[in-house]
Amino acid sequence: MPEYTLRLRRFSPETGEPAYWQDYTVDLEPHRSVLEGILQVRAEQDGSVGIRCSCRAAICGSCGVRINDKPGLACHTHLDAAAARSQDGVIKVEPMGNMPVIKDLITDFEAVHWKKVRRVTPWLLPDGPPPEREYIVSHEAMVDVTQSMACIQCGACVSDCLSMEVDPEFIGPAALAKAYRFVGDPRDSQHRERLEDLAEDPHGIFDCTHCFNCIDACPKGVAPMSQIMRLRRKATADYEIVDRNNGERHEKAFVGLIEKYGTLFEAELLPQSYGGKFHPRAMPELLRSLPVLVKGLLRGKITVMKGLHHPKLPDQKEIKRIFKTVEGRDQRYELNLYISGVDEEPEPAGAAGEAVSP
Ligand code: FES
Repeated sequence: MPEYTLRLRRFSPETGEPAYWQDYTVDLEPHRSVLEGILQVRAEQDGSVGIRCSCRAAICGSCGVRINDKPGLACHTHLDAAAARSQDGVIKVEPMGNMPVIKDLITDFEAVHWKKVRRVTPWLLPDGPPPEREYIVSHEAMVDVTQSMACIQCGACVSDCLSMEVDPEFIGPAALAKAYRFVGDPRDSQHRERLEDLAEDPHGIFDCTHCFNCIDACPKGVAPMSQIMRLRRKATADYEIVDRNNGERHEKAFVGLIEKYGTLFEAELLPQSYGGKFHPRAMPELLRSLPVLVKGLLRGKITVMKGLHHPKLPDQKEIKRIFKTVEGRDQRYELNLYISGVDEEPEPAGAAGEAVSP
């Protein structure tokens, strides 16, 4: 039987000692999980090792940890795969990020994750009394929310969310994916109110910086960042919500600059997001960004030339064509990340071939 070294992050707040690493060796078949390795350590070598788990089948979401610097489920990660991912074959296991540690590998979900999930009112708010029998919902409407419903609340996305690291008040990927579950549900009567709330919150949907970490982290393919983008599109395009965080205007400025230049003219993005360089709304923001600008200039990341001039991509016709094609579509169906598309052009008469009798 192969041997694996598990390097566990140990921490007991009551001792007053800082966190430290401790190595254990386990004998287990390669297809056994990292969780089984940790449980063997606890059963046979050190009963003081703390880890939370329940189903051991990637369903309950309890065993979320970071394995070799990536968040994931300990019960859903094979020992051989985890060892292969590390340079020295040692499997490093530590608690998830962005949450306080209670003990060893156990994080305080209540302090961060559940508080944020409650923030988005994670239950249905239907209008009027419930029907006598069940609600009838179309198949398409349910497909639309299946991806966000697949979340098992393991917190892997929260662990590696860069926005949350900078702004701990950010509602975060898991809670916002949960919010889409109700914004996309036709039985809910508060879509506009929910979207307004999430758009107006300075730590809401416009606080995501598209780092993609949550998409990589999620063991269930929920793609929380995509759910956040869908909330944004619903807020700005469907409900025309213009938020005080300037998220809607920022999106428009972004699209406008790409349409004009083919690539992003960074120096223009900020002023255009606030209505242009000379708009009264832009002035305070431009002044606020001065220290960053000076730092960028000193470090050579920004030059005066780059700030004033941005070359257009040579094939402007192609860019116009792409915009025309996308914006010319009547309706885009976006049931979830995996199922999206547009109606096919109707085939010209006679092109479909001979009709065949049934
Ligand atoms: Fe339930 Fe791992 S123990 S998901």
